Amino acid sequence: MTEQGISNLSHEDRHFDPPAELAANANLKAEAYDRAAADPLAFWAEQADRLSWGEPFTEVLDWTNAPFAKWFVGGTLNASYNCVDRHVEAGNGERVALHFVGEPEDDTRDITYAQLKDEVSRAANALIDLGVQTGDRVAIYMPMIPEAVIAMLACARLGAPHTVVFGGFSADALSSRIIDCDAKVVITADGGYRHGSASALKPAVDEALLKCPDVTGVLVVRRTGQDVDWTEGRDVWWHDVVDAASPDHTPEMFDSEHPLYVMYTSGTTGSPKGILHTTGGYLVQSAYSFWSVFDHKPDDVYWCTADVGWVTGHSYIVYGPLANGATQVLYEGTPDSPHKGRWWEIIEKYKVSLFYTAPTAIRTCMKWGEQIPAEHDLTSLRILGSVGESINPEAYMWYRDNIGGGRTPIVDTWWQTETGAHMISPLPGVTSGKPGSAMTAIPGISAEVVDDAGKPVANGEGGYLVITEPWPSMLRTIWGDDQRYKDTYWSRWEGYYFAGDGARKDEDGAIWLLGRVDDVMNISGHRLSTTEIEPALVSHPKVAEAAVVGAADETTGQAVVAFVILRDSAVSGGQGDGHADIVQELRNHVGKEIGPIAKPRTIMIVPELPKTRSGKIMRRLLRDVAENREVGDATTLADTGIMDKITAGMTAAKNDD
Ligand code: PRX
Repeated sequence: MTEQGISNLSHEDRHFDPPAELAANANLKAEAYDRAAADPLAFWAEQADRLSWGEPFTEVLDWTNAPFAKWFVGGTLNASYNCVDRHVEAGNGERVALHFVGEPEDDTRDITYAQLKDEVSRAANALIDLGVQTGDRVAIYMPMIPEAVIAMLACARLGAPHTVVFGGFSADALSSRIIDCDAKVVITADGGYRHGSASALKPAVDEALLKCPDVTGVLVVRRTGQDVDWTEGRDVWWHDVVDAASPDHTPEMFDSEHPLYVMYTSGTTGSPKGILHTTGGYLVQSAYSFWSVFDHKPDDVYWCTADVGWVTGHSYIVYGPLANGATQVLYEGTPDSPHKGRWWEIIEKYKVSLFYTAPTAIRTCMKWGEQIPAEHDLTSLRILGSVGESINPEAYMWYRDNIGGGRTPIVDTWWQTETGAHMISPLPGVTSGKPGSAMTAIPGISAEVVDDAGKPVANGEGGYLVITEPWPSMLRTIWGDDQRYKDTYWSRWEGYYFAGDGARKDEDGAIWLLGRVDDVMNISGHRLSTTEIEPALVSHPKVAEAAVVGAADETTGQAVVAFVILRDSAVSGGQGDGHADIVQELRNHVGKEIGPIAKPRTIMIVPELPKTRSGKIMRRLLRDVAENREVGDATTLADTGIMDKITAGMTAAKNDD
């Protein structure tokens, strides 16, 4: 994507002004940039007024112990109250919060704010009965059903930080996260509907909990009705305990810095990092950005296709939209179940006006063809969003023309699990958007592109993306590892948050993201690190050594490509024979260790790996091989002939599932 991004940049001169009516009525107008820049803390204090506070805050930011920030110091609030109760109190209890659409056809359910309040209160009371107290961690491993949202809000209501683990992750990934944050209770379901069938979740929880003796309760939603194993004294059905619980629960106000959730994400080394978000600052920025970047109005119908297991689902399904009292679609399944027009059918039915998805999904729809969306009335749409990776100009234009009818602005939102909320994005009523650029930092945020010495690059040049001032929804630390937090994000340049992305400023100062500069891959908008997949491969008895790189992929942005040295005992009949089986075996093994999303697209069985004299694998060279490029400078290798051996002796197998 990087090279394509740069070359496109050099001849991309299209830009699209906001429609006049949208510009005239936009929530946030151009003046906000200057106002925020003149006094960022006053600007954020103003945004904090979007929320209902128990005690007002006395200081906007305490940065004296940088990089450990405190936002809205002294203020108290309850995130669940802000997302639910206050809308009911304001007289909007009959407004639909969630238009739930299950994957099986005609399996739909509308939930109003008043109903959501009752459900969240019941779930909170049930969690109390399961022994959950303020400060306890609760793991959530759920399909995309309303109970996932209810579970998160119930935890927030009790001040019990949740850690949502993506339902596509394996039992091992689940147990390592439960152990890392020491969760006491797990909320799950028997299964969910994906790709046209019921896919089980509970067995993975049962397997994970063999390693987690400290989990005392498992709350299980019956979604599919499939058979489940049951551990008496630990497992309880949601319909037994939540339905029977009282719908009255008075939310307690917590300190602004009270932990709200831990979200695990991939880093460059070792185990996934538990990114900690706290309550006040996170909720202010997710609410503000939802309101401004999507220009949310009370009669909008919003839909974000992300899963609640990722940060996008946290900030732009749960906290941002609900804090704004939005009406949204929540869809359980895949875009092609039971047919490839499912998404467009849903948009037509619910008259979705704000739609947020990922470039990888857009490219998949492009492949399916424009005749599919053309069969549906998509004229309700007024703003389209993109997240997860740069949207290449071709996908941008396809999205704008075929989904947005050539009228809708596209907001290409750059942000991260760590940033908690949007950071760089066009404003739909202000910005003249360029296809492929996330444009500029939103009002209140200060971003810069710097060189190796930490100096801002000139327009037209590339470098590293940094955030130069603290922001309300910034991560507060890595769970249990303050030092890793400092080292990972704040050590490269004094006072700057280093995001790990390369970027370029064009001649107008607009920012073009150029992908990660570290060993993190971006597969379908999801972060995976080479250093997570390599140990998963090496844990297979037939593997001696493994190196993993991300290679450009037409649909998923990047794809996992693994180079594997087999143990002698596994090599029968020499290189090249019988490898199809082992390749499939290794892919399945990675799927089991981490999750299907981490399965390598390609596994190359090689005789050796390129290493420097100090033993570091030179992934750069492997990336050249994986992307079919001429291999770059190999002079620092311990054995300079190794790349020839690799390209000559290699057998490759490609799988597309
Ligand atoms: O590399 C950037 C890419 O995704 C990374 C963050 O991944 P994650 O924490 O999983 O969060 C994904 C959803 C926010 C970033 O470091 N990325 C995300 N959005 C964009 C992007 N790259 C370019 N343009 C974007 N709009």
